[in-house]
Amino acid sequence: DRTAVAIVGGGPAGLLLSHLLVRQGIDSVVLESRSRERVESRQRAGILEHGTVDVLHEIGADARMNAQGMPHDGFAFHAHGEEIRVDMAALTGRGVMIWAQTEVVRDLIALRLEQGDPLLFDAEVLAVEKVDGPLGHDGEAVVRYAYEGVEHELRADVVVGCDGFHGVARRAIPAEAVRTFERVYPFSWLGILADAPPSSEELVYARHDRGFALLSMRSPSITRAYLQVPNDTDPSSWSHEAIWDELTARTGLADGSFTLGRGPITDVSVTPMRSFVAEPMRSGRLFLAGDAAHIVPPTGAKGLNLAVADVRVLAGALASWRSTGSQELLDAYSDTALRRVWRAEHFSWTMTTMLHRPPDADPFDDRLARSHLQLVASSEAYRTAIAENYRGLDLDGLR
Ligand code: FAD
Ligand code: DHB
Repeated sequence: DRTAVAIVGGGPAGLLLSHLLVRQGIDSVVLESRSRERVESRQRAGILEHGTVDVLHEIGADARMNAQGMPHDGFAFHAHGEEIRVDMAALTGRGVMIWAQTEVVRDLIALRLEQGDPLLFDAEVLAVEKVDGPLGHDGEAVVRYAYEGVEHELRADVVVGCDGFHGVARRAIPAEAVRTFERVYPFSWLGILADAPPSSEELVYARHDRGFALLSMRSPSITRAYLQVPNDTDPSSWSHEAIWDELTARTGLADGSFTLGRGPITDVSVTPMRSFVAEPMRSGRLFLAGDAAHIVPPTGAKGLNLAVADVRVLAGALASWRSTGSQELLDAYSDTALRRVWRAEHFSWTMTTMLHRPPDADPFDDRLARSHLQLVASSEAYRTAIAENYRGLDLDGLR
């Protein structure tokens, strides 16, 4: 089989890229190793930047988001019992949308299947080959995949690796052609879903001497919340009562004005925290997008938004190549995407170090974290910078 663009991975990056290419009249095949049910049920991100909302609108996958998504103008820090509100809309003219990644993915899959374009589930890519060399008529890349017990070969002008951090596409780049940057944090997040109405209208990012906690939501009746826990924590080692007790202790306010409501916990999982960047995000006929190329710790809510920004730039570059024959934008793809990636890496690292308490924290670390939060509380200029990063920056005319 042959296609113009072989897309490895049917997460947000791969699915969205396929839709953006359809709009440019470019054929693609999406190969996803997991089942549709699995892909649609993985609990992950929840915050969409304005630019991400715009793309979903552009491709016509925004009807349910418009009806059920929750636009938020701000969020709060609970800093050792003191509340600091960040009014994103007042400070920057724009807020964010709470709409779960699971819902985004459901709509992208339904739209693709409705349009009848190729999207294979349970199709595991085994290897990406022949990516060396120029684009165009001189050659094609080969993607080998297993489907229904048989090995298949898909040939393509271009392969896009959207297969996440543990995918195979990045491995097709020779070690000497890629430089990686990495930081692994000495803590993880225990995440829960609960049948409990959110206890505050906006998100709460809490720092406490006991560690970080985050209160988010999925709907007016479902709470999503996270606790900093040690690495390698077994989720079943936490009783539901202990989770609520810990969330209550870390998010409480000194004046007693905040009460955390409880309800049945329906899902518990643990996520490690990592920063990672692979440069460049391209090798010959292979392009990387989303988590396949970079990971951020989730504290800044950037992972999903970066994946969307990558494929938006890449789709534009592929369309330009196709319509004008010029590879200029494709050649610029990695540098263009990496500017935004490093901004998000820095912001996510800043939020993470400001709000977590590492297990080996000494009094110097604690004083710095307290001073950092005092700066947030006392400086509108600093809150504005945080708000701009959180709701997404305009970088080179890209949103
Ligand atoms: P992914 O969503 O990882 O999609 C990659 C896809 O490729 C998957 O469907 C996978 O099955 C498929 N695949 C992998 N290997 C192959 C193969 N060999 N062949 C075919 N298909 C393959 N971000 C936040 O902002 N907030 C959060 O709370 C948050 N929580 C997260 C929790 C977890 C456990 C993880 C892993 C990530 C979380 N993120 C969070 C990050 C955010 O979800 C990701 O940045 C986002 O999913 C990136 O989308 P993607 O399409 O690049 O990658
Ligand atoms: C959610 C996740 C995040 O990482 C974050 O910073 C904010 C919200 C969430 O899952 O709702």
